[in-house]
Amino acid sequence: MKTHVAIIGGGPSGLLLSQLLHIRGISSIILERQSKAHVLSRIRAGVLEQGLIGLLREAGVCDRLEAEGFRHDGTVLTFDEQSFRVDFKDFIDQPVVVYGQTEITRDLYAAREAAGGRFEFNVEDVVIDPHGPSVSYAVGGETRVIECDFVAGCDGFHGVSRKTIPQDKRQEFEKVYPFGWLGILSETPPVHEELIYANSERGFALCSMRNNALSRYYIQCDANDDAARWSDDAFWAELKKRLPAKFADALVTGPSIEKSIAPLRSFVCEPMQYGKLFLCGDAAHIVPPTGAKGLNTAASDVHYLYQGLRAFYQRGDMSELDAYSSKALARVWKAERFSWWFTSLMHRFPDQAAFDIKMQKAELEFLRSSPAAQAAMAVNYVGLPY
Ligand code: APR
Ligand code: PHB
Repeated sequence: MKTHVAIIGGGPSGLLLSQLLHIRGISSIILERQSKAHVLSRIRAGVLEQGLIGLLREAGVCDRLEAEGFRHDGTVLTFDEQSFRVDFKDFIDQPVVVYGQTEITRDLYAAREAAGGRFEFNVEDVVIDPHGPSVSYAVGGETRVIECDFVAGCDGFHGVSRKTIPQDKRQEFEKVYPFGWLGILSETPPVHEELIYANSERGFALCSMRNNALSRYYIQCDANDDAARWSDDAFWAELKKRLPAKFADALVTGPSIEKSIAPLRSFVCEPMQYGKLFLCGDAAHIVPPTGAKGLNTAASDVHYLYQGLRAFYQRGDMSELDAYSSKALARVWKAERFSWWFTSLMHRFPDQAAFDIKMQKAELEFLRSSPAAQAAMAVNYVGLPY
């Protein structure tokens, strides 16, 4: 088989890149290890920056997002019984939009299928030749090869693309946090119209939502905890203890329809290119979920890679692709910094001394009272420019 760009991974990065390339007449084939149903069963954050929304618009995939997404102009932070709001409008003329990542993935699959996009699901043994370039894989016991101009490694943190870069040609930077997030999805109205990020003496909590009848809540938990150990009642009781009384009292509880624990990790691989292989999204970097930068940062990679591929196919200009890794990483590190900062500010750490807690409180108090500090948070939260 032949195509312009072989895309490894049918998550949001691979799908968005494929659809954008299609709009410009650049062909691609997506290889996905799982089934489509499996990819669509994953529940992830759902707070979108304008940069991602612009890409979805360019890809022709924003009708449902525009109809069903919720514009948020601010967010609430709490510490113990106190709470305050950061109003993004005071600092930047951009909201974020609440719309589930699973729904974006669904919309992208629908668009790729409507356009006759080429996929292979349930592939195994993917081997990338980054110099050929070519990709071989097995499906249904048969081995196949794709000849291509470029390979986009969009196969997430556990994929093969990053590991295709020889160890002595890449450097990995990692921080694993000593806790996880226990999350539940419940068919209940959100406790508040905006997201609430809570720092409490019992640990972090987050109140989020998908729509007016579907809520997403998280509590910081032990990294080795087991979600099955948590009854719904125990989850709600713990969440209430971490929120100021005015929110705890307003919380509508109900049965969970999903419950899982996610570990928290910061990770960056440098460089994001090797030969004709370009890493994109979670394949190259991970952020802890505080601030919802995972998908948004994947989208900025897609933007830079898409621009580079357009320059190559439209003008034969390789310079933007050559600069891909450095351009993408410059923005990745800023998103890493924000996610690390917001995580550090809002969680209880096992080794935290009384002094460290005073520092968190002082910083939250500074954020509450200082427009300059709120401006720094707002521009990062709504998303830095590409
Ligand atoms: N071959 C083919 N596909 C693979 C392989 C492989 N060897 N390994 C992994 N995959 C697939 C996974 O099954 C998954 O569907 O690659 C896809 C990668 O998707 P994501 O992990 O969702 O990564 P990405 O598309 O970069 O999306 C980034 O998703 O994980 C969240 O926090 C992240 O929100 C961010 C966004
Ligand atoms: C979510 O809705 O799942 C979510 C929202 C905001 C975050 C993280 C997760 O910072």
